[in-house]
Amino acid sequence: MIERPPTRALPMFEARHGLVGRAPGKPVTADDERLLEFRPESVVLPAFHVWTLGCQMNHSDSEEMAGRLLAVGCREVATLEDADLVVINTCAIREHAEARVIGRQGALAAIKERRPGMRVVLTGCSVRESDRAGLARRYPAVDIFLRPDQEPELIDRLGLVSAQAPIGLEQPSGTVAIIHGRPVGLADNLASTRSAAVGMGAVRRARTTSAWLPIVYGCDKTCTYCIVPLSRGPERSRPFDDIVVEARAIAATGCREVTLLGQNVNSYGHDLPTEARFAHIATERRTGRRLDLASRPDLAELIRTLDELRTADGAPAFRRLRFVTSHPWDLSDRLIEAMAECPTVCEYLHLPIQSGDDAMLRRMGRQYTVAHYLERLDRLRAAVPSIAIGTDVIVGFCGETEAQFEATLAVLGEIRYDTVYAAAYSERPGTPATRLADDVPAAEKRRRLNTLLTIQEPIALERNRAWLDRDVEVLVEGVVSRRPHDHQSGEGSGRTSVTSGPGEVHLTGRTRQAKLVHLAGTPTLVGSFATVRIEHAGPYALRGSLVR
Ligand code: SAH
Ligand code: SF4
Ligand code: F3S
Repeated sequence: MIERPPTRALPMFEARHGLVGRAPGKPVTADDERLLEFRPESVVLPAFHVWTLGCQMNHSDSEEMAGRLLAVGCREVATLEDADLVVINTCAIREHAEARVIGRQGALAAIKERRPGMRVVLTGCSVRESDRAGLARRYPAVDIFLRPDQEPELIDRLGLVSAQAPIGLEQPSGTVAIIHGRPVGLADNLASTRSAAVGMGAVRRARTTSAWLPIVYGCDKTCTYCIVPLSRGPERSRPFDDIVVEARAIAATGCREVTLLGQNVNSYGHDLPTEARFAHIATERRTGRRLDLASRPDLAELIRTLDELRTADGAPAFRRLRFVTSHPWDLSDRLIEAMAECPTVCEYLHLPIQSGDDAMLRRMGRQYTVAHYLERLDRLRAAVPSIAIGTDVIVGFCGETEAQFEATLAVLGEIRYDTVYAAAYSERPGTPATRLADDVPAAEKRRRLNTLLTIQEPIALERNRAWLDRDVEVLVEGVVSRRPHDHQSGEGSGRTSVTSGPGEVHLTGRTRQAKLVHLAGTPTLVGSFATVRIEHAGPYALRGSLVR
């Protein structure tokens, strides 16, 4: 063993420079004042908080922004009040979503007053190139505005680039396209910046049980009511192999469920270059704008590839594969066949119909008919008999008559959806529908919404009751924290109370059909698959017990 002297003085500190008032030759310790001038200036990195509104795509984008901030050394805090840096990822789908953030501006300004130096970044769908001028007026507490396609610039714009984590821009993203006669951000580097973030581990996934994987950005559709094309620009698919690489990285973390994301996830691939390996693909769109889809990858090809992914020990990389949101234009036979043949693809499809009346669908720019939608759904249900279906409906769109609304109710009765997300039409600035009169009064929109829910609830209840006394596979996702009055909630409330034994807590999870299930069990079950016997069914949730 080598003997070392008990202390060792660094030679340069032995020098008699006389700058500090200590005796020269004294050994140096870590807290020695003389070291200060040799230390790099201490950089105070902001503690950040991300407030996310809106859809899964926004939540996924926030995971990437949080990951980038963590990668440069910032710390995440649980509340906005404790943060030096607040990132607000906004949704603009309805006026109410924007009003929530506009309404917080006063409170944010007050927090900023108490915390000088605090910075607020606003991003997401409320930041539209066409409305840039009005942003500072609507959001006075905000320091930096980033369009959704500029989010990878967050670190650079905040001046947080460091030598330890070189997450810089790969290319500037100033490009702008014109959609509906308005400028729209068109950074074409989202695919490459995403892959770079994944490669550097700079995606902070919020959940360990289930991961989001964006595969196509933007929207090319023509829905006259919708702000998304103005916020997120045209469709841009990520390269096929990049997605597979990210899926492998997700599987390597032990996560067993992945959800592929896109505003129109099933239009994936049409904008990618043709390749010989995809020569067998020759799908034709049956409705909507004609596209040359031959020899390009599509969602069917992608889910077949992900379905076949194996871990090092030969086990399927994922147990569950989901994708959202699909457009009826792009529900191809190839996709239906792949859904039926891939064991990991879950038996759930979210397929927005919006209205049950052809004239309304035309006015909405949906470019399919109710008959086309029903034909696609029949084919899907024949191929995957146990499939659960969810949809979106807008009530009170411009000029919707009572008879047209009733046509929607009739279609809900015919299709018998498992889940319906219904919303009253909300006029959005710059969308083509602003040229139509928003002529259904607010009270009438509310009445139609309530009527629709009254029709749909018993349908959902009946569909859920079909699961009674059956054993189902549940991916346990989390522990429900106890709130006062929990014992009063019935199973219809979506917040069902469960009776838990010693050491057990109230858990929730989802079936393959995306049904929410409440159960009692130990917290260690979170992240695992459990077999649950369904004992109660409400319109929004099931309740059951572990099969031991
Ligand atoms: N790309 C998906 C999701 C779009 S946003 C799709 O096409 O289905 C989710 C839902 O919000 C839409 O399906 C629609 O039902 C609703 N929505 C969009 N714009 C709206 C508006 N202006 N008013 C009310 N609901 C709207
Ligand atoms: Fe909006 Fe229509 Fe695109 Fe969906 S498909 S995001 S509703 S424009
Ligand atoms: Fe909202 Fe944008 Fe998603 S408007 S619903 S956050 S795409």
